[in-house]
Amino acid sequence: MLKIPFVDLHPQYLEVKQRLDESLARLIGASSFIGGAAVREFEAALAGEEARRFAVGVKSGTAALQLVFEGLDLPPGAEIITTTHTAVPTVEAIVRAGFKPVLCDIDPATYQISAGAAAAAVTSRTAVLLPVHLYGVPAPLRELSALAGRKGLTLVEDVAQAQGAALDGKRVGTWGAAACFSFFPSKCLGGFGDSGAVTTDREPLASKVRALSNHGRLEKFTHEVVGVNERIDTLQAAVLSAKLPRLADWNAMRRRAARWYVEGLAGVGDLVLPEVPGGAEPVWHLFVVRTGKRDELARHLAARGVQTGMHYPAPVHLHPAYASLGYGKGAFPQAEAAAASILSLPIYPHLTEGEAAYVVEQTAAFFGKGSRATAAASRRSAD
Ligand SMILES: Cc1ncc(COP(=O)(O)O)c(C=O)c1O
Repeated sequence: MLKIPFVDLHPQYLEVKQRLDESLARLIGASSFIGGAAVREFEAALAGEEARRFAVGVKSGTAALQLVFEGLDLPPGAEIITTTHTAVPTVEAIVRAGFKPVLCDIDPATYQISAGAAAAAVTSRTAVLLPVHLYGVPAPLRELSALAGRKGLTLVEDVAQAQGAALDGKRVGTWGAAACFSFFPSKCLGGFGDSGAVTTDREPLASKVRALSNHGRLEKFTHEVVGVNERIDTLQAAVLSAKLPRLADWNAMRRRAARWYVEGLAGVGDLVLPEVPGGAEPVWHLFVVRTGKRDELARHLAARGVQTGMHYPAPVHLHPAYASLGYGKGAFPQAEAAAASILSLPIYPHLTEGEAAYVVEQTAAFFGKGSRATAAASRRSAD
């Protein structure tokens, strides 16, 4: 029996081992662990990669979101529109920054925020639209940026799961005023622990985020605002600098793995495969299928050595911490139905064709038939 983990990050390390080991050894040799050249180099490389004037490294994706909301100087009581079908930190950051999350249902075909629901949620207090490019698939940016333009709203992108994805040839993270990245280890670009970044073309916002993340100062002994300690860790910056040049290839490898799944799983059981919106180039941080037998399929795969995940088993509005937002069960039927039936299959750049074929084969076996791709492969090997 093969064992397929949900993610395997070690091969990424092996690809960049020499550069990474050398830069970590240099840092440890200098024993300078806060700020410094390693952070500046990473920020410059990230700004270049992301086609934005400024990149500010911070402690996590959550910190990136929270500090952008604080840095935008929004009026008290401002509302920020986002999706309920996301990682909890998206919404946590809004609350922690002192603003009001206004949640929306999803388009069930793509799992992304429904542009129609976002438009309907705009009030006189709305200040920010916060699409999340969930699973590495672009959110409906055309509609949302038009909406932001019409209503005078600030578009901020949660790019935590989608670094390198594009819509209409334009990279996600370049559509709005600012983009928030997470370098959680399993993300498209992942560190050896937590870190994140904000990218923007707006100098005042970049400076404000930098100051807030560093106890409210830009100069060593002058604290302009009350800040926090949410700086990026220097060791993480060094790790990320070593890995960033591989991001595009690793994303291409994720796309290859997604293709193997799509070819192998088409027409298997009641599985609904991910739909790619027109003009989108996803990066498949996650490969999420849908079935009425989600829990049984997850158990079947686990018994055969295949780890799966759920992203996420409950939408944000149904967590006790967010009950006070006042939505309750039934508020967002599409997101609630998705949460009950989605299953994330293993995906990571170095997943091999044989491993993907094993996942496909075991999934097809669960539904009581061979997949078309498996049948074609065995026909080829019989020829
Ligand atoms: C969509 C989304 N937003 C925000 C975050 C928060 O990032 P971090 O874990 O780096 O704080 C994550 C990661 O968990 C995420 O997936």
